[in-house]
Amino acid sequence: MSNTLRIVVLVSGAGSNLRAITDAIDRGECAAELVGVVSDKKKAAALEFAAARGVPVATVPLRKGDDRDAWDVALADQVASFEPELVVLAGFMRIVGAPILDRFKGRVINVHPSLLPAFPGHDAPEQTVQAGVRISGCTVHVVDSGVDSGPIIAQTAVPVLSDDTAQTLHARIKAQEHSLLPTVIHWIATGLVKLNPVRTVTPSEDERALVSPRMRS
Ligand code: GRF
Repeated sequence: MSNTLRIVVLVSGAGSNLRAITDAIDRGECAAELVGVVSDKKKAAALEFAAARGVPVATVPLRKGDDRDAWDVALADQVASFEPELVVLAGFMRIVGAPILDRFKGRVINVHPSLLPAFPGHDAPEQTVQAGVRISGCTVHVVDSGVDSGPIIAQTAVPVLSDDTAQTLHARIKAQEHSLLPTVIHWIATGLVKLNPVRTVTPSEDERALVSPRMRS
């Protein structure tokens, strides 16, 4: 396990991306070790899934009236206690603050259900359908202090069909997220994508062909 990337995944909901990451790890296609799962929700399917697999889980709830800055610090402390090399937001429905971004500079990534910079925010599939665009997709990006505004690492496009609802479109996008997110984690783990606080370097097609997840020994 020593040559795998220690990751902590932050979740708030269903956890289908968390499952996709663990499935890819199990198949040997993602050179990561899931060392912890952290949620802002006491009850989340993602947490139950992780706990059932024996992954350490923690909840850092933010209740109405709570001090937001104190919550940000508590979240950062909890994440740091797992000593991750990469923090992955996979359906985490809060903006993470400076305590996490400072402590894990350039090492926090997020998956978002649109082709950023189009449609940032929490209701991207709905915004997409309302706008009437014909192509959408998912983005994996480095998290900065803005809303879905950090450097883009990789994207996958999907068509928007004329009878799509936000739900049907989101389901099509999620199917792609489940492949893209573990792949990007693998690229980071194997050094094909190098993260630093100011920029990311995305591998060329030739580099990707050299080290595909399936070819890893
Ligand atoms: C995904 O569509 C992700 O892009 C967005 O939240 C959703 C999480 O889904 N940030 P799940 O909890 O992984 O099923």
